[in-house]
Amino acid sequence: MITGGSGFLGAHVVAAAVARSQAEATLSEPLGPLVVAQSRSSALLAPRFCSPREAAQWIEADLLVDLAALLERVRPTEIIHCAALSRAADCEADPAGARAMNAEVPAQLASWAAASDARLVHVSTDLVFGGEDAPAGGFDEDAPPAPLSEYGRTKLDGERAVMAASPAATVARLPLLYGDSAGRGLGASDSLLGQVDRGESPRLFVDEWRTPLEVSSAAAALVELLDFDAPGVVHLAGPDRVSRYELGVEVLTSMGLSRDEAAAELTPTRQADLDAGAPRPRDVSLDATRAAAALSVDLPGVAAGLGRVH
Ligand SMILES: NC(=O)c1ccc[n+]([C@@H]2O[C@H](COP(=O)([O-])OP(=O)(O)OC[C@H]3O[C@@H](n4cnc5c(N)ncnc54)[C@H](OP(=O)(O)O)[C@@H]3O)[C@@H](O)[C@H]2O)c1
Repeated sequence: MITGGSGFLGAHVVAAAVARSQAEATLSEPLGPLVVAQSRSSALLAPRFCSPREAAQWIEADLLVDLAALLERVRPTEIIHCAALSRAADCEADPAGARAMNAEVPAQLASWAAASDARLVHVSTDLVFGGEDAPAGGFDEDAPPAPLSEYGRTKLDGERAVMAASPAATVARLPLLYGDSAGRGLGASDSLLGQVDRGESPRLFVDEWRTPLEVSSAAAALVELLDFDAPGVVHLAGPDRVSRYELGVEVLTSMGLSRDEAAAELTPTRQADLDAGAPRPRDVSLDATRAAAALSVDLPGVAAGLGRVH
């Protein structure tokens, strides 16, 4: 079962889970294990990166209301929990809602998973860091978290609640994601392309660094983690540390612009010059060395990742 199957990441996780299910299909079980995708909004609106459309069974549910009923109905043996209140500004505006969705729902899910012997991969974020800049090479899994925003704090509380309730669970921290959002303008690259398309000159930070990852690669890694006996925190990230501005240039050059043409579309900006609605860390680069060594799926750098998209 994939929660948040309608989201930017979740839609790709559903596709990766369906691919794994199809690869596991046998003559006696020709459809492979059933993949259930949860969305809150109409499942009809969820993008399908998987083929055929019916390969996953979609269930509409509000996890703040229906989580227990959903779990009893589906009784999943494996769960990837992608659903979250994911926009930092929304979390600042509604801290109680952020806590409910990002900390209390994961706690409830993890309790059920532990009691039901279900494998749980819980999705978290690089924004559990930020109080200090990442060291050279990025934060590894042993680095102490220090979130700056309500989003980061509630996601960290969610991690801790998951590990307390279900010590066998894996908490996968992801970095800034980019890639195909099925025309919805989600993620670091599609949102930028939408702004450029509308004739805006996106303001991108030259003093904010990330280790971004292409979204379908992140999804494939999350699905592979289901097969690991890997309790605790794991970092999934790309190997390149880039500023938001540098990432923007790379996105536009991957669309065929020269570097000069790309730079002309963007407004280099410093964090201090823009109120982004929530405190922003400077450098939350992740060190994903452990995952890169253990997983068979690739965690591509920016050029290779964008090459998969455009
Ligand atoms: N995007 C990134 O760059 C990034 C980076 C690091 C970590 N992450 C993590 O990755 C995960 C997915 O993020 P995303 O970018 O894909 O977010 P997203 O596009 O905003 O998707 C969020 C998902 O959560 C669902 N959801 C929200 N509230 C819900 C509720 N009350 N009941 C049921 N479902 C609810 C949404 O359903 P509806 O669409 O149906 O409302 C949607 O499917 C999150 O855990 C986030 O913290 C994302």
